[in-house]
Amino acid sequence: DRAIKIAPSILSADFANFGQECQAIEAQGADWVHVDVMDGHFVPNITFGPATCKAIRPHIKGVMDVHLMISPVDSYIEAFAAAGSDFITAHVEAGPHIHRTLQAIRGAGAKAGLALNPGTPAEAAAMLLDDVDLICVMTVNPGFGGQKFIHSQVEKVRTLRAMIGDRPIHIEIDGGVDPVTAPLVAAAGADVLVAGSAVFRGGSVSDPAPYGENIRAI
Ligand code: DX5
Ligand code: ZN
Repeated sequence: DRAIKIAPSILSADFANFGQECQAIEAQGADWVHVDVMDGHFVPNITFGPATCKAIRPHIKGVMDVHLMISPVDSYIEAFAAAGSDFITAHVEAGPHIHRTLQAIRGAGAKAGLALNPGTPAEAAAMLLDDVDLICVMTVNPGFGGQKFIHSQVEKVRTLRAMIGDRPIHIEIDGGVDPVTAPLVAAAGADVLVAGSAVFRGGSVSDPAPYGENIRAI
């Protein structure tokens, strides 16, 4: 039985209080902190960059899991690694040289993640299994929190888990994770569940108990 990790996405946190929000979700039982970087080019939304990651790093005791929804990506890897990212995840769709990107992430001292959009088949990861520490299966189209889970992706998770075999690779689910969809992806072989709206709803830094209740409900 695989231990399931919950990685709240601070995309649903109070952007004026990232430090306190990170402390609050860890105190409430978060395993990892998921950090969504968007550039308004690869995805139709803009969040923040490496300076913000560096600023929140001291407020996270555990794993800082940085999801790059940016293109180009290679020229920014060094900065995100220097910001203290434990995992840096790049999209296979973000450029022609994903293998180089994954090598650059490991070369910079971080663990390498590969993200697959909903329209990208599991086979896109087949040639990269020795170069990744994590595969992120997007269960929404990236860009925004609070979207509906895309059920066709559950089969992709099952396919990836079989492809991975006994390699030490995490399968992370990102998008629309809640108490209804979490058991489906966990049963299919996922072990890291990102959740934004389902964790942060009903709580705040001054009233963080709902974060804990929400995490335990997933
Ligand atoms: C989507 C982001 C996700 C998102 C998840 O582009 O990568 O991490 O914040 O949010 P929910 O859990 O609300 O779908
Ligand atoms: Zn994400």
